[in-house]
Amino acid sequence: MKRNALAALCLLVSLPAGAQDDDRLTRSRDAAMQLGQELSATLLTAIGTDGPVAAIQLCNVEASPIAARISAQAGASVGRTALRFRNPDNAPDADARAVLMTFERDLAAGATPPREHFETRPDGSARFMSAIVTQALCLTCHGSEIAPEVAASIAEHYPADQATGFAAGDLRGAFLIEWPAPGSPAR
Ligand code: HEC
Repeated sequence: MKRNALAALCLLVSLPAGAQDDDRLTRSRDAAMQLGQELSATLLTAIGTDGPVAAIQLCNVEASPIAARISAQAGASVGRTALRFRNPDNAPDADARAVLMTFERDLAAGATPPREHFETRPDGSARFMSAIVTQALCLTCHGSEIAPEVAASIAEHYPADQATGFAAGDLRGAFLIEWPAPGSPAR
């Protein structure tokens, strides 16, 4: 509990002035958490039932519709990005890349908790990112020693995959929530 309180404090000081008053920050955190939970529930069930190869297939089919549904509910574009990505649709733009690099640097320097970033732009649009850290269970599909049948399935679905070679504790990527300028439709 104490640790969580400290974590919350660290997050507060890392955010720009005024960000705490923007309800899109809270809604971004909620949407990121929902996407994370739905994806890991889908993944864990699939791995447990049919193994990692089937889980890759399911991720390939289900990851975008899950993100699309949560985006529609939130009124924002809710997804994931990474410096080294598996799905090219998740490639970061230059700004997201810069934020991912600070996340990576902070994480390597031992920053706890994992970082988050919130910015508003002059047109009223806003962007939220929060770091996704690699855990032991992710290594089956993102680690350095991938089983041959898993590697084959990844190569089949993602021929340009860059998302292996991670270790537990590394930055894997980030949730990325984009809020359109008021009055314009969500992207
Ligand atoms: C069963 C294999 C499997 C496991 C285990 C797995 N992933 Fe993935 N991961 C994938 C696949 C497949 C994709 C591409 C999904 C898509 O098409 O959008 C992916 C994509 C991602 C992305 C989006 C960025 C990118 O590279 O395209 C992140 C972030 C990510 N995974 C994090 C994790 C984390 C964190 C864990 C552990 C909690 C994890 N993954 C466990 C297969 C897996």
